[in-house]
Amino acid sequence: MRLDRFLCELNLGTRTQVKKEIKAGLVSVNGVTVLRPEEQVREAADLVCYKGQPCVYEEYVYYLLHKPAGVVSATQDKRDRTVLDLLAGEGRSDLFPVGRLDKDTEGLLLITNDGPLAHALLSPGRHVDKEYECHLAHTFDAHQRELLEQGVDIGEKKKCRPAVVRILAEKKITLTITEGRFHQVKRMLHAVGNEVVYLKRIRMDRLQLEDSLEKGAYRRLTDEEVESLRGG
Ligand code: URA
Repeated sequence: MRLDRFLCELNLGTRTQVKKEIKAGLVSVNGVTVLRPEEQVREAADLVCYKGQPCVYEEYVYYLLHKPAGVVSATQDKRDRTVLDLLAGEGRSDLFPVGRLDKDTEGLLLITNDGPLAHALLSPGRHVDKEYECHLAHTFDAHQRELLEQGVDIGEKKKCRPAVVRILAEKKITLTITEGRFHQVKRMLHAVGNEVVYLKRIRMDRLQLEDSLEKGAYRRLTDEEVESLRGG
């Protein structure tokens, strides 16, 4: 990778800024000052120092975002703000959301540049738990619960896999599903005669959305959390 891009990915400034710093002699590679921004570096092997301090390159990064309503789960969009706009300050150009939440859905969204892990988490055979807090238009009853727990038909070839229901209030439940079909939770509740009026993802596998993480805010995953997602 080019030296200037490498420094940008480490969040050390814009491309223009880091080019200036390189030309000013503030960057060395393996102990030798390098003045050419286009110099190639091997991210994992070369020792790059900025103002004498070693720069550690992280190949993969993982963020837990509290997605607010109104932003789309895409890497770019012509009309709407995307979840990646919320992480623009990280200065990485290779991030993407793992799966999607609808524009009006809030809550936990994993953002990473780790393609293999994302692929594994989204693969239909993995059945990763996703728990949603659902506010409903109508009173939730025992019959609706039974249908959801048996596996409801939402008009596709196959019924949904059985879901786990926790009742929080007359019109408020959590639903844990293990698939990722289009608008799945809303369609499941619709299929049993109810309607979702507000939806928030509160858990994915062992990743939990903590109350202290405000809407629009994000945090790095801990090493333990990354390991647990990898199945460790
Ligand atoms: N199910 C839905 O209906 N919407 C989401 O955003 C996520 C799951």
